[in-house]
Order: sequence, then C-alpha cells, then structure tokens
Amino acid sequence: MTTTGPELEPQSAITAEIVSRQQQYQDDLAAGARPTATLLDFAPYRSSVLRHPTKDPRLVDPETIELVSPAYGHWEVAPIESDLTAQHVGGEPQGQRMVVTGRVLDSAGRPIRHQLVEIWQANAGGRYIHQRDQHPAPLDPNFTGAGRTLTDENGVYRFTTIKPGAYPWKNHLNAWRPAHIHFSLFGNAVTQRLVTQMYFPDDPLFALDPIYNSIPEQKDRDRLVADYDHELTSPEWALGFRWDIVLSGPQATWFEQEGDE
Ligand SMILES: [Fe+2]
Repeated sequence: MTTTGPELEPQSAITAEIVSRQQQYQDDLAAGARPTATLLDFAPYRSSVLRHPTKDPRLVDPETIELVSPAYGHWEVAPIESDLTAQHVGGEPQGQRMVVTGRVLDSAGRPIRHQLVEIWQANAGGRYIHQRDQHPAPLDPNFTGAGRTLTDENGVYRFTTIKPGAYPWKNHLNAWRPAHIHFSLFGNAVTQRLVTQMYFPDDPLFALDPIYNSIPEQKDRDRLVADYDHELTSPEWALGFRWDIVLSGPQATWFEQEGDE
C-alpha cells in the first residue's frame, strides 16, 4: 500500500503567486506606501506563512539578553575550518572544487576586520547531512558542509569548498532551490548575527524560487549573486567566485529572517 501526502501545487501556481505579489509590492510603492524591505508575508514560500511575527518585536537590552543567551568562547578559529574539502581523513569530497572569497564592508566601504564568517551548504548532489533531508541523493562521507573563518585586516574572507547542488524542498510540486551557500556573520554579539544566502550566476531556477523572490527588489536579489572571477580561478585546481558583503547602508546585502531554509 502506498500513502500519499497532501497534494502539492504545480510550479505554475507558485510562479503566478510570485508575479502577483511582486506586482502588488510595486503598486504599493507607486501608491506612496513604504513597504518593508523584506516581505515577511510571502505566501508562495509556504512554510514562511506561519513563521513570521505578527506582532511588533519586544525591545530588549542586548547586554541583558546576553546573560541568558548562548555564549561563545574565544577559542581560535583554525585555518583548516575554512577549507571544506580537507575536513575528512578519508579523502576529498565529490564535486566541482571552488574558492569563494570577498570582503565584509560597512556602509562607507570600510573593511570589517576579524569578523566571524560561518557557512553551511549542501553537497555536490544537493544533499544536506540533516535528518529532515531524506531525498534520494547520496551523502558524501568526505563532506560535512560547514566551515568558518575570520576576516583579515582588509575585511577579506576566503573559503575553499565544492559547488553545492540544487535540491528539492517540497514547497510545491517539483520545487528546487537554486544552488546556494548559507552565510552567517556574527558581529560582536549573538544579538547582532546576520544570516543570508549566496547564489551563483545565471541559475535557471531563480525565476521559480519563492525564497529568492521573497526579496522584492531585483537590485537586492542581484547583490546575493556571486561573480565568477577568472583571475581567482586556479589552473588545474578550482573555480573562483567573488562575493562582497555590505552590512548596512544603501548598498547593503539583503539578510533573511530567522528560520529561512
Ligand atoms: Fe539551503
């Protein structure tokens, strides 16, 4: 006997909702409204509907909350942690090796030094090591998919990893996320943590993805897409992608709400 879950909607229905919601945003702008930069109520991204806050946030004193929130020690970040292809004694992971690097900048273009940058990503087959990810793509015994580093004196971070695959995520029928790497910037305290996703150029899944399209402005979506950099690409070794992160101001990188996939 086979069991079936709730019927999933087709991509065409989700795409129609994306187009309609983005048009509504533009209409609101034209009518003089000042909608928030993040569309918290973005129905095509189904699991977000019950997740976003419906009440104004409570303001808390950051120093007070740190007395009861997770506290992180001052242990060294080891250089090996920025190379996701060298974390297993059994060998290297499958996939297209690549370097991703860039600068973390403030609104005036000044480098943010000694900033903890964390990443996590799917393997080359689009699979995470996570209980909730059970789709039939292989796990890679030589790939965990997590790394961290500190920015240097010029605000530069650099990771060596493999290009992640696209993966299905059951938002609707035949829903696939564009390939992406999750980024977290920790700031100086847990209350300053910012999280976003970096994408790859020219992904054919962009137009179909409700998460990417929950960002209403194309310029903000474009800022999440890394540039291919042939100067950074190493002969016989790895492709190079460059992606700068701007923490505030008109050129700021878009950051997501807690809990996005
Ligand atoms: Fe992801």
